[in-house]
Amino acid sequence: MKRLATLTLTGVAALALSAAVQAEPDGEAIYNQACMACHMTGAAGAPIKGNEGHWAERLEKGMDELYANSINGIGAMPPKGGHANLSDEEVKAAVDFMLEPVL
Ligand code: HEC
Repeated sequence: MKRLATLTLTGVAALALSAAVQAEPDGEAIYNQACMACHMTGAAGAPIKGNEGHWAERLEKGMDELYANSINGIGAMPPKGGHANLSDEEVKAAVDFMLEPVL
C-alpha cells in the first residue's frame, strides 16, 4: 500500500513537471527544430535572425501581428513554419527567441 502511494505521488510530480514545461516552451529549441532552416539562411526570402534591416519594418507591425502571421502563415511561410504539431504558445516562444537580438 505504501509503495502504491509512492508511485502515485511520483506520477503526480511528473505531471506537474510536464505542465510546467508546457507553460514555458523553450523558444530556442523550437527555433532550432522548426524555424532555423529558413530563418538562418533567408531561404524563400525569410527575414534572417539577428539582421536588423530584415526586421525593422516588420517590427513596426507590432508583436501581436508577428505572432499571428507566424501562426497563420504569411507569404512563402506556411502556418507555424509547416510544423502544425506546435502549439500557438510554442510558435510565440520561437518568435520571441528569434527577435530577441533585434528588439
Ligand atoms: C519554409 C521556410 C520557413 C520556415 C520553416 C519558417 N519561416 Fe518564418 N518566414 C518565412 C518567410 C519566407 C517569411 C517572409 C514572408 C513574407 O513576408 O512574405 C517569414 C516570415 C516570418 C515572420 C515575420 C512575419 C511578419 O508578419 O512579417 C516571423 C515572425 C516568422 N517568420 C517566424 C517564424 C517562426 C517562429 C518559425 C518556426 C516556428 C518560422 N518562421 C519558420 C519562411 C519560413
